[in-house]
Amino acid sequence: MSTFPAQVRMVEVGARDGLQNEKTIVPAATKIELIDRLSATGLKTIEATSFVSPKWVPQLADAAEVYTGISQREGVSYPVLVPNEKGYERAREVGVREIAVFTAASEAFNRKNINAGIDESLDRFAPLFERARADGVKVRGYVSTVLGCPYQGEVPIADVVHVAERLHQAGCYEVSLGDTIGVGTPAKARAMLRAVAQSVPMHALAVHFHDTYGQALANILACLEEGVAVVDSSVGGTGGCPYAKGATGNVASEDVAYMLEGLGVDTGVDLDALIDTGMWLSEQLGRPTASRVARARRS
Ligand code: HMG
Ligand code: MG
Repeated sequence: MSTFPAQVRMVEVGARDGLQNEKTIVPAATKIELIDRLSATGLKTIEATSFVSPKWVPQLADAAEVYTGISQREGVSYPVLVPNEKGYERAREVGVREIAVFTAASEAFNRKNINAGIDESLDRFAPLFERARADGVKVRGYVSTVLGCPYQGEVPIADVVHVAERLHQAGCYEVSLGDTIGVGTPAKARAMLRAVAQSVPMHALAVHFHDTYGQALANILACLEEGVAVVDSSVGGTGGCPYAKGATGNVASEDVAYMLEGLGVDTGVDLDALIDTGMWLSEQLGRPTASRVARARRS
């Protein structure tokens, strides 16, 4: 008999991972409405935007406007991506209370994504951890390319463990393991998570699957069986990293919520409200939702 955690916290990344990869720039007002709609569904963690270089990700150049425009609900966290001290300062100017730093288990991907190697990126974060501690700001961490890299190919599990451990030791309360290009399969996902959990406690780990090869739900299920209780997803299945060749959307939040509901796992999220939000977003983006559950329920 499989066992699953009784409760899972869903981390919604659509407003960031989703919209960073859109060909056209989504207006700030739409981003704000998306985040406010998401916070009405019962989600407790909603990644809002990124304070990265607008030269690198013009889609999120309006980070300050978006962050100040949202109606923050009590009990909901709104983390933002921050790559360096400049990003930290921009985020703090608008009152951000949780940041997410991001690096990768692959040297090659890091160079493309943040113009730095793994060690260099961790050195770059050191002052952020110090300032965040002093300011009472929570820090989440991402390790990308945990199951494969678009430039390097195979990524040794030992490299994933090493980077996850360093982020956790540096002060990340949670480390999210990202299958950036969605190439993982369940046995590999399970083995990777099991290895990381030898060095970072399971309660401090999250999984972040892109669905390029249609494996994300199966991978999540395998990881739930290992005991992970935090799952990243994106409403409508939007998402992708502009610097990860071939990466498509994240697993759709609606599909994750449906699966968890079916497993009897409590998420605190209203599935119908999430589906409505995903359908609203697909109208804004002018294309059909990638959520199978939303399509089935609305057909
Ligand atoms: P760089 O070019 O090496 O840095 O970029 P730089 O310091 O030379 O800065 C270049 C220019 O950007 C300068 O402007 C800086 O001032 C400016 P200029 O002097 O030329 O006018 N700049 C900034 N402006 C605003 N805010 C900032 C900032 N930093 C520099 N924070 C850097 C290095 C890290 C900045 C750049 O590579 C970058 O921003 N990369 C972000 C890429 C990104 O956001 N990728 C997507 C997110 S990661 C992801 O999606 C994966 C994830 O979902 C998990 C998974 O799926 O695996 C998290
Ligand atoms: Mg991602």
